[in-house]
Amino acid sequence: MKAFVVEKIEDKKFTSSIKDIDIPNIENDEVLIKTSYSSLNYKDALSSIGNPGVTKVFPHVTGIDVAGEIEKSNSKDFSKGDKVVVTGYDLGMNTDGGHQEYVKVPAKWVIKIPNNLTEEEIMTYGTAGLTAALSVNELEENGIKSGKILVTGATGGVGSIAVSILSKLNYEVVAITGKKDKEEFLKSLGANKVVLRDEFDIENKRPLLSEEFDGVIDTVGGEFLAHSLKLIKHSGVATCCGLTSSFELNTNVFPFILRGIRLIGIDSVEIALDKKEKIWNKIANEYKISNMNKLVNKIELADIKEAYEKILSSKATGRYLVKI
Ligand SMILES: NC(=O)c1ccc[n+]([C@@H]2O[C@H](COP(=O)([O-])OP(=O)(O)OC[C@H]3O[C@@H](n4cnc5c(N)ncnc54)[C@H](OP(=O)(O)O)[C@@H]3O)[C@@H](O)[C@H]2O)c1
Repeated sequence: MKAFVVEKIEDKKFTSSIKDIDIPNIENDEVLIKTSYSSLNYKDALSSIGNPGVTKVFPHVTGIDVAGEIEKSNSKDFSKGDKVVVTGYDLGMNTDGGHQEYVKVPAKWVIKIPNNLTEEEIMTYGTAGLTAALSVNELEENGIKSGKILVTGATGGVGSIAVSILSKLNYEVVAITGKKDKEEFLKSLGANKVVLRDEFDIENKRPLLSEEFDGVIDTVGGEFLAHSLKLIKHSGVATCCGLTSSFELNTNVFPFILRGIRLIGIDSVEIALDKKEKIWNKIANEYKISNMNKLVNKIELADIKEAYEKILSSKATGRYLVKI
């Protein structure tokens, strides 16, 4: 079968290409999925350049997301022909991922695709969409059911889907982006206002600033998250899922002890399967967005390498859907 394989040439030097490799055999409680679609996420791009925080075992097939049909099953829970999705756990990290024609995974990672989502749609969301939906769900479950929400890294996979879902739910959305030419794109997804990254006053070191936002969905970390916390209204909520700006967070306690704000971590990778299922069902229903065609770039295995370069240089916009 065909697969997008990353190989280690020497210490800290990696190469990637499409190769013919063997279809894997499955063991007890495993399934073999015939891949229809996968996607690209920031983590896949890191894996493709040998980032040891993501992948340590090479040769390696990237792809932390996969959707397809069960081809073979050694599990009582799945039968040939079931339409399924897998995101996260070890898929695409040190377990060969979705960028190949057949994927072998433990059955305990697998979810049946909800009725009103196709394989193509569910992979357009992928891990990025699941993470955006988890973030919105945390705002709602923590009492932020309306109001003004700031989204950072807004043109990225997580950011663009977060903007779209929030807009569908009638929040007022302020989107931060580093891309000067993407204001119209973000407005077409439903952003009410677009702020350029260099207009966001991260150099202002005052410990608290005027209250502006009911909630924040942060995908970039670092100074952007630290600055956002100072702008949240009393009892507001921020979610934190990413680190494209920085993994560091240097802040102070005033937003927490004077305004009672809450900062909630989002992990879409290791959360329990039933929570993933609950969020996929929300994506299939109340969070389902109608403007997916605006944010999806449809590619094939042969285009993955070039797309990774765009993701790593912050030139990518929206989601990459990979047809296998
Ligand atoms: N916790 C989880 O479970 C989970 C799940 C999925 C993703 N993530 C993480 O969430 C983050 C976003 O993932 P993604 O798939 O959406 O990535 P992505 O598509 O590559 O988008 C990241 C966006 O971050 C912004 N950005 C890039 N460099 C930046 C910088 N130096 N400073 C400020 N903003 C910067 C850019 O948006 P603009 O140009 O619009 O500013 C970029 O489009 C990544 O760190 C990823 O690892 C975490």
